[in-house]
Amino acid sequence: MSDSQQLVSKLVDSVIDQFPVHRGFLEQAVEGATEDERDRLGSYLRFCLSKGLSLEYLAESYLTILGDTLDEQEYFRRHGHYRHSTFADVAESVYHDRDYMDRYMYGLAITTFLWPNHVEMSRFLRRSLPRDRGGRYLEVGPGHGFLLMAAIETGSFDDFLGVDLSPASVEQTRTIVEHFHPDAPVRVELRDFLTADDLAPSSFDAVVMGEVLEHVEQPEVFLRRIADLAKPGAFVFVTTCVNAPAVDHIYLWRTTDELESMISDCGLSIVEPLRLPYEGKTLDQSRDEQLPINVAYVLAKAGA
Ligand SMILES: C[S@@+](CC[C@H](N)C(=O)[O-])C[C@H]1O[C@@H](n2cnc3c(N)ncnc32)[C@H](O)[C@@H]1O
Repeated sequence: MSDSQQLVSKLVDSVIDQFPVHRGFLEQAVEGATEDERDRLGSYLRFCLSKGLSLEYLAESYLTILGDTLDEQEYFRRHGHYRHSTFADVAESVYHDRDYMDRYMYGLAITTFLWPNHVEMSRFLRRSLPRDRGGRYLEVGPGHGFLLMAAIETGSFDDFLGVDLSPASVEQTRTIVEHFHPDAPVRVELRDFLTADDLAPSSFDAVVMGEVLEHVEQPEVFLRRIADLAKPGAFVFVTTCVNAPAVDHIYLWRTTDELESMISDCGLSIVEPLRLPYEGKTLDQSRDEQLPINVAYVLAKAGA
């Protein structure tokens, strides 16, 4: 067994020690991963250990996001809506709570290798990123930094800018990039995308925003701003979710149609959609039973 695979096994063991009923799910997830994905997860774990974190802490971080998501699903089932609907409701308990935000981002990073829909969305980004294009890459809300890493590793952009309003996210993205790609021309800035007024219209060749829209009160403002900042012909990639409660999800779409109408109304057209139903259900069943649907889109500036 390689060093990476051993670390992955140790992480899985640590999660199972703390939450034994998750064993079957985790073993299936690891078995379904490609060798490359297992190696990447192993390298990520090694990087985290080099920062002084322990596998137990990472396992706890993963279980924090899992437990909190299950609690919010229960709330959603009972009440028919997300627990919170304003940014102020979650700002203190999530974005400005350094300890929670750190665990949340480490946990979320691990889900990109273990939760089937998150795995599919990562694969979709890696296969969609243009290989032949230079220019400027912008990412909104990089969080743990994994999408930005995919763009550095797969694309051929000349420079990369990430903007995130959480200090924990900025630190995680900066350190992961510095560790794996110390010479990449990357800037990660602590700022709110909505007030980043100095970004020039039609100046980016790629704009990526993963799992941010459901965290904001007015997703249409984000989508319009992305349409404005993207050059005609730019690669635009956005992921979000429908009926998918989490501690800090505040904007609820009940159908993919509702979400996709919003995208079109904001000056973006859908080039390729990826709509992922709840495990074991079809898209129609997920919609009718109000179960989580994950979505990712390659978009284009409309009219380009
Ligand atoms: C759930 S994480 C997503 C991480 C990663 N992009 C992914 O796809 O898994 C959402 C990130 O968006 C950031 N964020 C939320 N609102 C933002 C805003 N207005 N401007 C910049 N970043 C924002 C959060 O701080 C957090 O790091």
